[in-house]
Amino acid sequence: MRYGGDYYPEQWPEEVWADDVARMREAGVTMVTVGVFAWARLQPEPGAFDAEWLDRVLDLLHDAGIEVDLATATASPPPWLSAAHPGVLARDADGAAYWPGSRQHYAPTSPVYREASRDLVRRLAERYAHHPAVRLWHVNNEYACHLHYDYSESAAVAFRGWLRSRYADIDELNDAWGTWFWSQRFTSFDEISPPRRAPYSRNPGGLLDFKRFTSDALLELFLGEKEIIRAAGATQPVTTNFMGAFPVVDYRRWASHLDVISDDSYPDPADPESFRGAAFTRDLMRSLKPDTPWLLMEQATSAVSWRGANAPKAPGQMAALSMQAVGRGADGIFFFQWRQSRRGSERFHSAMLPIAGTSTRVWREVVQLGADLSALPELPPAAPAPVALVFDWEAWWAIAGPDHPVVLDYAAVAQRWHAALHRMQVPVDIVHPAQDLSAYRIVIASLPYLLSPDAVAALDAFVRGGGTLLVAGFGDVADEHDGFHAEGFTAQLAPLLGARVVEHGGLVPPPPAFELKEPDDVAERLAAAAARPGRREVTVAFSDGRSLTGQYLEEELEVRDAEVLATYADGPLAGKPALTSRGSGAGRALYLATVPDDAGMSSIVAELLDAAGVRAPLDVADQRIEVSQRGDVLTIINHSADQVEVRVTGTDAVTGEVVDDVRLGAFEWRMVRGVRPA
Ligand code: GAL
Repeated sequence: MRYGGDYYPEQWPEEVWADDVARMREAGVTMVTVGVFAWARLQPEPGAFDAEWLDRVLDLLHDAGIEVDLATATASPPPWLSAAHPGVLARDADGAAYWPGSRQHYAPTSPVYREASRDLVRRLAERYAHHPAVRLWHVNNEYACHLHYDYSESAAVAFRGWLRSRYADIDELNDAWGTWFWSQRFTSFDEISPPRRAPYSRNPGGLLDFKRFTSDALLELFLGEKEIIRAAGATQPVTTNFMGAFPVVDYRRWASHLDVISDDSYPDPADPESFRGAAFTRDLMRSLKPDTPWLLMEQATSAVSWRGANAPKAPGQMAALSMQAVGRGADGIFFFQWRQSRRGSERFHSAMLPIAGTSTRVWREVVQLGADLSALPELPPAAPAPVALVFDWEAWWAIAGPDHPVVLDYAAVAQRWHAALHRMQVPVDIVHPAQDLSAYRIVIASLPYLLSPDAVAALDAFVRGGGTLLVAGFGDVADEHDGFHAEGFTAQLAPLLGARVVEHGGLVPPPPAFELKEPDDVAERLAAAAARPGRREVTVAFSDGRSLTGQYLEEELEVRDAEVLATYADGPLAGKPALTSRGSGAGRALYLATVPDDAGMSSIVAELLDAAGVRAPLDVADQRIEVSQRGDVLTIINHSADQVEVRVTGTDAVTGEVVDDVRLGAFEWRMVRGVRPA
């Protein structure tokens, strides 16, 4: 179990470094990330390279037994680079430059940026490939965190190149994008630009390809750096820090290129439910590379500095969220950052060592967490979950496009299905629809708008093999170009479902339930849609009198060969099917033609679990308690400020003492092994 944070010695006079290291030892720090924003310190001017200070930092850490996650420092080019080469700057959809003065202002496809950053990485890798302190390489930082999309000239050139390799010729692209519509037909790839500002909505196929291209262009940057690190003879694992369910980068496509997944996570302490969203991202990270423990690379010890209002974490909350990550598969807990900055944009951001010093609660909790983590037993990998939730960036990208029946936030809806399972303590993996699903008992495919033929085959095999599949709204709508299949909606899934959608029926969406990570335009469209007049909900009724509330969509189904489990009870489709089920092989496939509210999701999930005989590892009714499972070890966390009691018998996994029911104070946790299943 590793413990530490981002360490920025370049922000401090050298006299402070010895104190840093002494304090790190006091806090039980075992690894720090060094160099993330050190480009200007490493290359104070063009052509120069000064790493002697870094030699001293690494030696000091190594002598103290602290390992280093060495960053490649490429996330924020120094002002001299763009002053000499303005073409290095990224541009927005209006063509305006993102000027230096913050960070991430570079165009990822700029040949100048690529050459300069690779030169820097080469020097670092050659110097430190065999340094005994270096145990991990940290490439760049949070790709696309601030700069989601770049519309610069270099992006245009690279986009054209990407399109040329995707399409055999320009007419294949024209057909794929449907460019006869609105006279958009291209005669050559050279006429294509990134989706810069246009009078009205843009071609959906072009938008989707631009998102694919952006994720791939960033991956190319990552791979370019990784290749240099390897070429220098470095054998340590290589990572880059992800940001949970982040819209711009298809982390699943990236995952196989990372030796270890690492994630940055900043749930809002002011939101008592934010731990649930954090659980979703932990499960996503674990599922990206199920056989390798992941690292919580960044979190805050207390408040961040970038929300409109920045609440501190409550006493114990930092440990609770850290242990949540451990319980869900992490083998390392890190913070941004080690020592709170005196100057710069993030000076109000909490740190392991606060500016207020070591007499603070934050420092005491940091020291305590270090001690607690070091006392943990070796933890087995997270148990394979019985339930899988489909999450696919391609569907997310397409759904985020304009001109749909309703503005939908794909990730927020998926997160709500996850929350329904989380409230019941049921372990969930987060999967791609085309992967082998045979290990699962239940698969929930929320808004699987875009499904490849491979995904359809995997879902079909899953059902035939005995699984229960719930396709929950807006399923199998579009092809890979965000156009429709010749046979209409649900064309590929119709045989499995015994039903198809003929019209989607948009309802006025609810206001966003979570802090969205969507690019601004989607967030704005969601807010505007939520303010519209019109019907917001539809009632779905079961024959036994139960009902649920549907939102976003009331799809009209044509049922050919399926059982109707529930019908619409109001609205224009009253009496028509809303939930169908069809047996196939040893399993069954259900289609739900709307998106339930939270209570509706809970009742559907409860029924699916019951029918499939899936139970939580521990029976806990209080939804503020979280239970996660790694092998035979359960991590039980109280995410509330109240004292709670949990009925459980087993052995304390840390002390070895017998456990016979546990009482957990505010944000307390306990690890128990040998628990009999509920
Ligand atoms: C992350 C970033 C860090 C720091 C932190 C503040 O997005 O990687 O450098 O800015 O947020 O919360």
